[in-house]
Amino acid sequence: MGEKPAILVTGGAGYIGSHAALALLDAGWPVVVLDNLVTGFRWAVPDGAVFVEGDIADSSLVGGLIDAHEIAAIMHFAGSVVVPESVENPLKYYDNNTARSRTLVATAIAHQVRHFIFSSTAAVYGIPDTIPASESMPTDPINPYGRSKLMTEWMLRDTAAAHPMNYCALRYFNVAGADPAGRSGQSTAGATHLIKVAVEAALGKRDGVAIFGTDYDTPDGTGVRDYIHVSDLAAAHIDALEKLIAKPNDSHILNCGYGRGFSVLEVLDSVDRMAGSQISRTMEPRRAGDPDALTADNRLILGTLPWRPEHDDLDGIVRDALAWEKSLGEKA
Ligand code: UFG
Repeated sequence: MGEKPAILVTGGAGYIGSHAALALLDAGWPVVVLDNLVTGFRWAVPDGAVFVEGDIADSSLVGGLIDAHEIAAIMHFAGSVVVPESVENPLKYYDNNTARSRTLVATAIAHQVRHFIFSSTAAVYGIPDTIPASESMPTDPINPYGRSKLMTEWMLRDTAAAHPMNYCALRYFNVAGADPAGRSGQSTAGATHLIKVAVEAALGKRDGVAIFGTDYDTPDGTGVRDYIHVSDLAAAHIDALEKLIAKPNDSHILNCGYGRGFSVLEVLDSVDRMAGSQISRTMEPRRAGDPDALTADNRLILGTLPWRPEHDDLDGIVRDALAWEKSLGEKA
């Protein structure tokens, strides 16, 4: 009677998964977090969530959790996310992101889980011919990371056609920022993402920021990306969950972005502004495989879900990332 069922959040001790777990709890959904703590942190699991340390491919563990907690849906964040590492060690990505996801999906089907939400990525588009990238464009990932995620999208599509389960694959653009209330944030050491690197530099944890390419076909010559606040991204998962439950015959593949881009220089200017100091900048050659510009066509998510961005503000994203980075010293 109005009581919400429990949701299994894999990777709930990680950056995006912990924000989704917070959003679920805030909205009154019981949460079970499953994380192997290889890259996640026990302290990142929100108070109020049940925490289980373990692997998504441990079918007896996961099946037992599904049954014991009467899990209604799985939000699947667990996986490996470093693009260059995927080039060096592709089989790790095909294992963690593809093979283990297959086992998780099989366990979900065997235990009658009806809804599945999957963390996909704009990397499935590769270097798109036109931007903003829309879901109807052909996918053509250019690295094992993108391919490992795209294969899982395909598995979900075929599985949903054959079994009583629907799914939503959310294709994330550049996720950044931190919970505005300071409860979670990006905590991985050695991160390579621009905003994370820049706030570390602003706080003296690095010497400065290398700008990878200044001769791109963009207004100021540096790469342009669609940065989305992690709390808006988490909110999209809640709306996707409610949609899957309300319309059990429909599945969705949805871009998660704001539909506008900022250049590397614009991001660094924002960090300087919010930190009140100047980060040292060096010019470096292009990084292999970086597109000039990548932004989301977000008309589909806006038309499908009630989701509306609430943190579409670069300075706000940077402010929250900075605040988290400051607090991180006390936690790590
Ligand atoms: N950049 C720098 N210096 C840095 C880090 C990044 O100049 O130290 C530039 C990049 O060249 C790029 C932009 O900042 O133009 C953003 O780079 P990120 O590494 O932050 O993010 P990417 O756009 O490369 O990667 C994102 C996601 C990946 C996903 C990819 C899909 O983080 O998970 O988009 O294209 F695979």
